Amino acid sequence: MSRILKVIMLMVLVGATTGGCAMSEEIRRIEEQQKVTQRREKQMTTDLSGQQIFIRSCNSCHPGAKAGMGPALDKLGEHFPTDDKLKKFIRQGVGMMPPQPKEALDDVELDSLVQYLRGLTFEEEKKK
Ligand code: HEC
Repeated sequence: MSRILKVIMLMVLVGATTGGCAMSEEIRRIEEQQKVTQRREKQMTTDLSGQQIFIRSCNSCHPGAKAGMGPALDKLGEHFPTDDKLKKFIRQGVGMMPPQPKEALDDVELDSLVQYLRGLTFEEEKKK
């Protein structure tokens, strides 16, 4: 084998191995990044009860489900006859009311939240 050929083969070999290393390094980095993203998403969604979710995400504008920056939530039965309608509204938000995407509120939490909202009573207001 000529010397030149040997050198070329060596270069190809070295190129292939370092190339391979860089590739697996890149894959490792991507995997690491995915793990970080997954961890972050986990931290954002939790196993909170409907009431806890309400306090975390809604109470600032609907204090105790009464009027604040947002309206009182005592007419949900009238305005959102089905849970699907209510869920769609909560997911989308409107005007000043922020949307609640799945990253912020997963489907299980949205179920809990809606159950909590449906269970709200406004006896005091009605008596007055
Ligand atoms: C930044 C303030 C803000 C936050 C936070 C907020 N809302 Fe609202 N909400 C509003 C405003 C303002 C409206 C009235 C929107 C409009 O009609 O323009 C509203 C309207 C509503 C309505 C409609 C009421 C009706 O009878 O028509 C529901 C239901 C509601 N919000 C539920 C929630 C829930 C559940 C959360 C928590 C996930 C939440 N809101 C968080 C401000 C807020």
